[in-house]
Amino acid sequence: MIDLTPWPQPATPKIRVAEPETTAAEIAAVTAALERNWIGPDGIDARRVEAELSAAFGAGAHALLVANGSVALILALRALGVGPGDEVIVPALTYAATASAVVHGGATPVFCDVDAGTWGISPATVAPAITPRTRAVIAVHLYGVPCDIAAVRDLCATAGLVLVEDSAECLLGAVDGQVCGTFGAVGTLSFFANKLLTAGEGGAVVTTDSHLARRLALLRGQGMDPDRRYVFLEPGYNFRMSGLQAAYLAAQWDRRAAITARRAAVESAYADWLGDLVVRPEPPPGGIRVPWIFTARFRDADAGRTRRVAAALAAEGIETRPVFPPLPALPAFAGHPVAGTDVALSIAATGISLPTSATVTDDDVARIVALVRTVA
Ligand SMILES: Cc1ncc(COP(=O)(O)O)c(C=O)c1O
Repeated sequence: MIDLTPWPQPATPKIRVAEPETTAAEIAAVTAALERNWIGPDGIDARRVEAELSAAFGAGAHALLVANGSVALILALRALGVGPGDEVIVPALTYAATASAVVHGGATPVFCDVDAGTWGISPATVAPAITPRTRAVIAVHLYGVPCDIAAVRDLCATAGLVLVEDSAECLLGAVDGQVCGTFGAVGTLSFFANKLLTAGEGGAVVTTDSHLARRLALLRGQGMDPDRRYVFLEPGYNFRMSGLQAAYLAAQWDRRAAITARRAAVESAYADWLGDLVVRPEPPPGGIRVPWIFTARFRDADAGRTRRVAAALAAEGIETRPVFPPLPALPAFAGHPVAGTDVALSIAATGISLPTSATVTDDDVARIVALVRTVA
């Protein structure tokens, strides 16, 4: 049984678990958008980020900005024609949006377990969930760690299944030099306020299939023919990103090396100083992790330890996060088919995320480590 009681949190957080870093660059970019009087979608910031993001995903990739990472998933499934009558295999250990998108599209999520090493799906965890109605698999690269995506891609190819990658937490992570989000038909990203790079709210879809890219763009913009105003070819959505969000994101994009370096330094300090107590998810061979948030599980199976640590840190004004409770244990997803959850449950019972914001200082890390060690 997973403990669903409220997680200990500071009344007034002094150190946030994953907050955005707004500098003069973000303020200048948003001010410039206001001065240009272009706060709607598809302005120069959005176009530049889309072009540079596409290039970062590799040759032939098309990245389209959308309103957030949740609608990115809905858009991907709709564009791929996944809907009523279809089953979609989703990891039990993920954020709710991954499975909600399946439900919103009228398909059925089927939950599978995750691998104890990567905390993501693998052929061994997906296989038991496949039925004659399975149409698609959503692989999630959780907590900045690519799952064994090349092997999952091969399984999907053999079984004739559509592969979608939820890369909301793993911006530009890679396996064997290939960027996560380009292994399947469509990859999705989030630029939510707590993400590595943010627009406050924001997301993207990415594909290397130019026909699919046109379809994603069409559906993102109400289904309107790009060449004929108010001629709607099919019912679409308004999933566009506003110009103000794109301006903030453009500044973050330009500062991505500095933001990433700081978060990586924070993560490796935790890993060095807590490595005897905790174990982190690890990418598959050839995989490159992304320093989004330091998340690890205690090496022993004491399920109360994470909450004791969270309470001790909260008393000092330090925020932490629980690992996602496995989705089949939650009221929102009760009753959907489940092929396995044992590993997901044990990770959730013993895992915790520590503050990894770019604003976290070396002194903060030292204090947090000392507190964790006192309780553990
Ligand atoms: C794994 C995963 N998928 C999807 C989402 C949804 O993204 P957003 O919050 O931008 O809607 C999130 C994010 O927060 C996430 O962590």
